Amino acid sequence: MGINILGMGRYLPEQTITNADFEKFVETDDEWIRTRTGISERRMAGWEPSWYMGSEAAKQAVERAGINPEEIGVVICCTITSDFLTPSMASIIQHNIGAKNAMAFDLNAACTGFVYGVDTAKRFLDTDENMKYALVVSTEALSRFVDFEDRGSCILFGDGSAAAVIEKSDKIYSSYLASDGSGAEFLMARSLNVAPEIAVDNGYEDPFSWTKMHKLMQNGKEVYKFATSALPKAFEKAAEKIGVTKDDISWFIPHQANVRIIETAAKKLGVSMDKFIVTLDKFGNTSSASIPMAMVDAIENGTLKRGQKIALIGFGAGLTYGGIVLEY
Ligand code: COA
Repeated sequence: MGINILGMGRYLPEQTITNADFEKFVETDDEWIRTRTGISERRMAGWEPSWYMGSEAAKQAVERAGINPEEIGVVICCTITSDFLTPSMASIIQHNIGAKNAMAFDLNAACTGFVYGVDTAKRFLDTDENMKYALVVSTEALSRFVDFEDRGSCILFGDGSAAAVIEKSDKIYSSYLASDGSGAEFLMARSLNVAPEIAVDNGYEDPFSWTKMHKLMQNGKEVYKFATSALPKAFEKAAEKIGVTKDDISWFIPHQANVRIIETAAKKLGVSMDKFIVTLDKFGNTSSASIPMAMVDAIENGTLKRGQKIALIGFGAGLTYGGIVLEY
């Protein structure tokens, strides 16, 4: 069994932060950022809550899907930037959109979140014959977690949200989800509850002072290295399960982290960059929201059409990675 993506929605915060804006508080410049990352600008939520952005994206997805929200059986919210430790963003979104018959929970697979979320939703649809629709929402307010003193990371991230209503179908579908926790310390934000000495005792370096609590820290080079192998592998593993080849794919929709990562992955796969959807220039890296935000872009500008086979491929903190091959 496969899935049909019935409708998708997106919410973009109004405020745009350009590369030039970063020049005011870190030593950087537009040219460095554009040539090293492909990013020109990104959105910033300010104090708009993650749940608000997620609810708006979800409402649009439900409206475009043309369904009654009461028929949604599960709301999965993919996020690493929840407004609360508890309750989940999913429960709040469930209430805001009137999905009163749905179970709801958050899923943290970092930037691979949407890939994990769609696959998890499919497994619910597969195993519950009474479940008609699933809603997967990715919502991220990374600007509240980046370290604006670290020029190597703060320039990468942006905020935004996107959502998809999914139903069962007999279209083709395959997935491959993976994790390599040995790379956990390469991309991490420490929670309030973990004292530095405990982190160190458990083998994690402690590069933060207490003032850097909650801030995203990364080893850019290690993440880069991981990503350039993870993306091609995620596609190949998912595709080989159902005998799909790269030539069958109309669009590759990768996690939007760095255009050089995407170019390297394309080269390794032997696929032209023309087949990759890239929205990095205007939104930066919005973690779990980057793949569905790019999908909405491609749907709205007519690039992504019904009947086309696509590959969603992601990687992120964990280190997680994964791919889905499906027909849109
Ligand atoms: N502006 C200007 N210079 C900067 C800079 C910035 N914003 N950030 C870093 N630099 C400097 C570095 O300090 C370094 O200077 P030095 O040579 O004097 O020490 C120089 O630029 C080169 O740094 P380097 O880290 O080698 O750059 P890079 O080409 O590897 O690019 C990243 C850095 C972060 C853009 C890149 O490693 C990357 O994208 N990694 C993956 C990160 C990622 O995707 N994270 C999220 C995953 S979900």
